[in-house]
Amino acid sequence: MNNKSEIRDTFGRKFEYLRLSITDECNFKCNYCLPDGYARTHEKQFLSQIEIQNLVIAFSELGTKKVRITGGEPSLRKDFSSIVNIISLINGIEKVAATTNGYRLKKNAHHWIEAGLDAINVSVDSLDANTFNLITGKNIFNKVIDGVNAAISAGYRQIKINSVLMKGINEGDLIHFLAWIKDHPIQLRFIELMQTGNNEVFFNKHHVSGETIKSYLLKSGWMKKVPLSHDGPAQVFMHPSYQGEIGLIMPYSKDFCKNCNRLRVSSIGKLHLCLFGDEGINLRDLLQVKSNKEKLKKRILTALTDKKESHYLQAGITGATPHLASIGG
Ligand code: 5AD
Ligand code: SF4
Repeated sequence: MNNKSEIRDTFGRKFEYLRLSITDECNFKCNYCLPDGYARTHEKQFLSQIEIQNLVIAFSELGTKKVRITGGEPSLRKDFSSIVNIISLINGIEKVAATTNGYRLKKNAHHWIEAGLDAINVSVDSLDANTFNLITGKNIFNKVIDGVNAAISAGYRQIKINSVLMKGINEGDLIHFLAWIKDHPIQLRFIELMQTGNNEVFFNKHHVSGETIKSYLLKSGWMKKVPLSHDGPAQVFMHPSYQGEIGLIMPYSKDFCKNCNRLRVSSIGKLHLCLFGDEGINLRDLLQVKSNKEKLKKRILTALTDKKESHYLQAGITGATPHLASIGG
């Protein structure tokens, strides 16, 4: 019997993509995210493997096809490979991805692919070792790049590099990034700096509009690709003489939320309907035993009726998100 259904919200958007945070802990100190480093703000344990399994089974029966494992830094969890494996074996999950700061990538790119990881996003905010250190607080630029190369040779289905361009810090890296993807089959994603609860002053000083990058690309021969449904909110560009492509994440652009295709669950089991939404809906009491599956599905569907059309970032309203490590970016 096919018991698959679809999750749609009241605006007709379909949610086939779950972003699941498995820890909010991180060992980097990115200046836009955790400038003072990670500090634990709750007493709760992170979701266990059983809870993760029960959660993803319910989502999968509601139509989720892709799961991205996020953090904090997800690979800080010792059972990261087991979690990847558990999710990859769930019926209906066609793609398991992870977002990482690259700290453990060089050593593990092969193990993770064997565990069932299909795709990986690595954050690389600069191609200059000093600037990388300045942004992340970690002097390990070469190790992270070795990790990206290890992922390329391991044969991941898809590799993306996330980069936040910031005024006065790494804006000038744009041309180096473009040169890099000329002969590397990766998608470079420029994520426009977003304001969160904790970074207002930093944001005002360093925010660069994605429009500036977009017009530069269009002037330099890049062409916008026709959006595919699974692209989500990214605008993707290609260039005939480049192996790689570019994705622009422009959360301040008018139609950013129109193609929203994702739901988020935090590392303590709260469902978040938007990155910049409110406190989140607790799912954890229904994750312990398999027999609560139908109740869990119902709670998710009921919650979704409340999903708003858009965030209110343009008005400087960042919701309850202090920094993106708290909810998985
Ligand atoms: N604005 C934009 N991107 C951010 N990230 C984390 N915080 C922010 C922010 N305030 C990015 C990281 C990582 C991804 C998960 O989210 O660089 O690549
Ligand atoms: Fe860690 Fe990612 Fe935040 Fe950097 S952006 S501090 S890598 S969670």
